[in-house]
Amino acid sequence: MPDENTTPVAVEADKVSFSYERLKALDELSLQVPKGTSFGLLGPNGAGKTTLIRVLVGLLKPKRGSVRILGQPLSRKTAHLLGYMPQLHSLYTELTVAQNVEFFARIYGMGKDAPKRVEETVRLVDMWPRRNDAVQKLSGGMRQRVSLACAMVHNPPLLFLDEPTVGLDPELRVSFWQYFHELTRQGTTIVISSHTMDDAAHCDRLAFMRDGKVIAIGSPNDLKHATGCRDATLEDAFLHFVRRGRGENG
Ligand SMILES: Nc1ncnc2c1ncn2[C@@H]1O[C@H](COP(=O)(O)OP(=O)(O)OP(=O)(O)O)[C@@H](O)[C@H]1O
Ligand SMILES: [Mg+2]
Repeated sequence: MPDENTTPVAVEADKVSFSYERLKALDELSLQVPKGTSFGLLGPNGAGKTTLIRVLVGLLKPKRGSVRILGQPLSRKTAHLLGYMPQLHSLYTELTVAQNVEFFARIYGMGKDAPKRVEETVRLVDMWPRRNDAVQKLSGGMRQRVSLACAMVHNPPLLFLDEPTVGLDPELRVSFWQYFHELTRQGTTIVISSHTMDDAAHCDRLAFMRDGKVIAIGSPNDLKHATGCRDATLEDAFLHFVRRGRGENG
């Protein structure tokens, strides 16, 4: 069996189904994310992106199907391999920026390296000057940055980011993506959900999702080319696959 260092696949979902009571949120969904790549989940509200991410990090247990992370089934032993930035912030608003990041460093059992890494991470998201401010005093975009710092303080090889660029100003969005590209160059795998085609264009591969299913998967260029139209955008490509799913493309 390949271990976390030798497997070329960072995330593998095989026919995963999940329901909230009677609502089927994921329907026999399968995908593979190659190691060291950025992988985008795109789809409308309610497509199942957040549910999928929560299944992939082990917060929800699939009703059917299986998940493997870096070659291993999800377990307590794989928890340190994952970083997760939820769609809704899970910060302690009465604590300061630094205290929040320190808290996550502690949860992940970081020992003596923690203070250095906390400083490094808070600087990376450009929040060092505000490190002693309570989170409740921060703007939405700033909270987003702190949330990212919390997800990656333990330097995990696999990051799940649920709509991390929502509410960021354009400059910060560019710097987030520069940082994500740097991380994948170093071998980190990033799974990111988004609604923006700008984010999608930055990803190495994309899964278009709808109604709890993957309707297409490939590189942004492959997906655009599949429309058969030279000037197709990623929006066009998404609509192409939605129509194809309905049998409307001839
Ligand atoms: N806690 C919950 N209880 C019941 N139903 C839920 C719950 N969370 C999500 N759902 C339902 O599951 C489906 C998928 O929701 P999910 O949040 O995964 O979508 P999403 O693609 O992340 O959407 P968005 O783009 O709005 O974030 C939706 O129909 C939603 O109403
Ligand atoms: Mg969501």
